Amino acid sequence: MAILVTGGAGYIGSHTVAELLAQGERVVVVDNLRTGHRSAVSPDARFYEGDIRDGAFLNGVFRDNEIEAVIHFAASSLVGESVQQPLDYYDNNLFGTHSLVRAMTANGVDKIVFSSTAATYGEPESVPILETAPTRPESPYGETKLAMENMFRWCERAYGLKFVSLRYFNACGAHPDGSIGEDHKPESHLIPIILQVPLGQREHIGIYGDDYPTEDGTCIRDYIHVMDLANAHWLALKHLRAGGASDIFNLGNGTGFSVKQVIDLARGVTGHPIPAAVSPRRAGDPAVLIASSEKARAVLGWQPRYDDLSTIIETAWQWHSRHPNGYGD
Ligand code: UFG
Repeated sequence: MAILVTGGAGYIGSHTVAELLAQGERVVVVDNLRTGHRSAVSPDARFYEGDIRDGAFLNGVFRDNEIEAVIHFAASSLVGESVQQPLDYYDNNLFGTHSLVRAMTANGVDKIVFSSTAATYGEPESVPILETAPTRPESPYGETKLAMENMFRWCERAYGLKFVSLRYFNACGAHPDGSIGEDHKPESHLIPIILQVPLGQREHIGIYGDDYPTEDGTCIRDYIHVMDLANAHWLALKHLRAGGASDIFNLGNGTGFSVKQVIDLARGVTGHPIPAAVSPRRAGDPAVLIASSEKARAVLGWQPRYDDLSTIIETAWQWHSRHPNGYGD
């Protein structure tokens, strides 16, 4: 039987496909290639180009393949964009997931591992953030991800759907073999933007505010390597296979780095001075986001391998310096 990965041509999806194949799984990928890249998908996976909102297309995929479980990434994922275009997020994220779960129930597939986000919490009352913290999303992105989690909860009750939701903090880095990496257009994430400076693609990195209530005034985030995230999806799948209960887990390293610290580490990795300039705050950025991932360690046996941010940035630098234009598609 195969694992269906929706959004498997995206950044975290493609790394999870690589991890699943390395673990000996059979993988089927569905992606509409709106933000994903065909060449990010291993040739060892079966690929279908199409949209999960297209029920007839999805039913065809389920009919053609013996699908055991779904790992669901296909979604829009930009906080700022979601505030500008909320209806697009409700359509792609919520209706897309509705269409997927309908096809799953119609085809007798009852396990789903879900790509969720720290954005479900909004501004935290305290850090590290536990899974029991209140969820008060501050964007349609976070809101739709939370609604998708709640959809799974009700579908468990009604149809016996089992789910694991993984709430990532700041995904970064690239596959250590150099074959795949991060390629968003436009790019909005801190580490790839910093690396555009040594690549000669921008003059300096803009720091979004240095007047936050943190030691150096810049925002603190919990950076987690994409292969550690990928591995957590496989562990979540094993958890469901073993009859484990539906659950929600945070995924982060549990250590915070400020924007200035990340820039300093990137200077060390690249040997480039990477000039920085402070610009105004970006709307909606919480000062500090750090995960408690104790539950994922205890229940799933998750053990992040890349707990050193320099090493994480090195894997990103290896990818970006060899693929300055990403996948070039
Ligand atoms: N930043 C800069 N300059 C830049 C880009 C980012 O200073 O050019 C700062 C941001 O203000 C933030 C930090 O770097 O303080 C990290 O920003 P990212 O955009 O890389 O990541 P976010 O923390 O904003 O977002 C991440 C995920 C989202 C998720 C969110 C949860 O990418 O998908 O965490 O709050 F929703």
